[in-house]
Amino acid sequence: MTATELPSSLIPTLPGNTYTDPAIFELEQEKIFEQMWFCAVRGADLPDAGNFRTVQIGRESVLVTRSRDGSLRAFLNICRHRGARLCVEETGTVKRNFQCPYHAWTYGLDGKLVAAPNLTSMPDIDRTEYGLKPVHLREWLGYAWLCLAAEPPSFEQTVQQDVRERLGNLDAIGNYQVSELGLGRRITYDVKANWKLIIENFMECYHCATIHPELTEVLPEFADGYAAQYYVGHGAVFGDEIKGFTIDGGEGFDRLDGVDSDQDRRYYAITVRPQVFINLVPDHVIIHRMFPMAADRTIVECDWLYAKDVVATGKDVSRSVELFHRVNEQDFEACERCQPAMSSRAYAQGGVLVPSEHHIGEFHRWVQEVTSTKGW
Ligand code: FES
Ligand code: FE
Repeated sequence: MTATELPSSLIPTLPGNTYTDPAIFELEQEKIFEQMWFCAVRGADLPDAGNFRTVQIGRESVLVTRSRDGSLRAFLNICRHRGARLCVEETGTVKRNFQCPYHAWTYGLDGKLVAAPNLTSMPDIDRTEYGLKPVHLREWLGYAWLCLAAEPPSFEQTVQQDVRERLGNLDAIGNYQVSELGLGRRITYDVKANWKLIIENFMECYHCATIHPELTEVLPEFADGYAAQYYVGHGAVFGDEIKGFTIDGGEGFDRLDGVDSDQDRRYYAITVRPQVFINLVPDHVIIHRMFPMAADRTIVECDWLYAKDVVATGKDVSRSVELFHRVNEQDFEACERCQPAMSSRAYAQGGVLVPSEHHIGEFHRWVQEVTSTKGW
């Protein structure tokens, strides 16, 4: 049966090779991850001047650092002399400068070329011209969002629009004051699956009844398989007996300041294209950042954020972390189960989406449109 003969309750997915073909992945890196705003680093991870973190965005390594004036800066992690990778560590701190390990060209935290051996013999070299290549950076929700495009798309009409479309307005997320929260726990998952499988999984709840027993206990409406998270402004309601968003439904922490009574005892899930998932519950916020590394590998960093005093006083966050950590493991196992099957002849034409998954079709159309020659 071809896609055009499918009953209208079923719509086709993308074909299997879009999850495995390195050439398609490269196109996605070029047209999606290197063009859009990419949520890269939590600002509070780099509290002091000289702290740095390197991340892979599309095909580029990017260096993010706290400069002396207190602002975050991002640069392509490439020495302008002969192209050596400047920092090979994932995180670290430099005292004053970044020095290339090859011929010792030295760059300030603002990216300017400040020294090079025998530079006096090259008085005509423009130190700004040969500084590190800057990357656009915008801070929102306490994270540095980076964009490699020469002309970044509007942050308001892409990142914030995805949040607005889901929640109805930006105040709804503003209430959680995400940038003021503290990091209670971070878990990094190395998922052997294509990034699109992870997004598709996050977008639907058809699987919830099958693989998320703990989550459906806390959010009984998820057991129906409806993607409740996709009705504008709707937050899934906690079950009657549930006291908090914890592994056993037991008490959580006090509601975050600013969260209003409509948002109490509710769970909101937001997908921000192309690589961020945000979960809002009354006493914490969970932010996933995906780093697509290869067609069949995605690193996911998941942060559990709590009121600062919860973190500062060392309160035990493990029961609330455990709930979504288990959900993550269940989800990623499902994605890893699908990944090898993507290259099977059984999936050459793709699979189908049932009605409660139809909105995933919009995501597929978007990916196809953006990676087509029309570009972003
Ligand atoms: Fe960096 Fe030569 S490549 S100093
Ligand atoms: Fe799930």
